[in-house]
Amino acid sequence: MIELAKIDDIGVHAQRLVRVPKKGNKGDDDFRAPFFALGLLLAGYRWTSHAPPLHSLDDSTVSARPEDLIMPALELDLFLCRTDNFGVLLHDPESGETASIDAPEEQPILDALERRGWTLTHIFTTHHHNDHVEANLALKTRYDATIIGPDREASRIPGIDMTIGDGGDFTFAGHKVHVIGTPGHTAGHICYHLPDDRLLFAADTLFALGCGRLFEGSPADMWSSLQKLMALPDDTQVYFGHEYTLSNARFAVTVDPDNPELQARAAEIEDLRERGGFTAPTTLGLEKRTNPFLRPADPGIRAHLGMPSASDGEVFAEIRKRKDNF
Ligand SMILES: [Fe+2]
Repeated sequence: MIELAKIDDIGVHAQRLVRVPKKGNKGDDDFRAPFFALGLLLAGYRWTSHAPPLHSLDDSTVSARPEDLIMPALELDLFLCRTDNFGVLLHDPESGETASIDAPEEQPILDALERRGWTLTHIFTTHHHNDHVEANLALKTRYDATIIGPDREASRIPGIDMTIGDGGDFTFAGHKVHVIGTPGHTAGHICYHLPDDRLLFAADTLFALGCGRLFEGSPADMWSSLQKLMALPDDTQVYFGHEYTLSNARFAVTVDPDNPELQARAAEIEDLRERGGFTAPTTLGLEKRTNPFLRPADPGIRAHLGMPSASDGEVFAEIRKRKDNF
């Protein structure tokens, strides 16, 4: 059982971010804490009321408008790990801070860092599955990166330094990060939302045209989690954990066959994957219009499933069950 201790020195910008005490490595811990706290305070100081940057869907790099120059936009790098895991790096060009969203595999992350000339400073872990944490210790050893992860899965996250749970906030290079607890795929799964940058890292909770399998939660858990994500703005860019979109699209059209936007999207995905392109990121608005797991209230889907008077949760559970057997 990992013992947790509250951090007092992080300042007002980090709430409910909790340090995991290290055993036998106290000097290193003490060395980094003031710098992390100072960074958070400076980041807060730099944060202005300027409008958030725009993001281009056809370019993984976030583009800045002139008025954003005081607060440079974060840059993103998206690449494949293992067979179908997405690796994502989040980089602040001003401070040089770079976070890896999960750590599915060491070498592709090293390659991306080298290609960009970035140095890893953080890992934001979403859940304990091995294909999301396998490279934690190797990257931590190489870069001394700080690993932040879900409080409910702290004992299962290798090398974890800080825990955070549902509703927690912290800043990364001056950018607000809000943590949303999304149990269902695992019991302690969390998503990282950067509201001012309109970015969501949803990992294995929400996929393009799909959602995560229910390994540790009920359909009601997952439906509740997805509803939290659906409450975010439609222009939120969503990065997710796996390139499962082709399979998801082929399933989605069987549940929602009369949705013309889904039909068009499914055809585009067939073409994109044929050419080796990635389907990430997506947007929340697009998912709300085409992802059947977010549309159990849709009359067409209900009619197709023969569930006109069921609850949204019951329709969601039926869709999830059908996908498990697809
Ligand atoms: Fe997973």
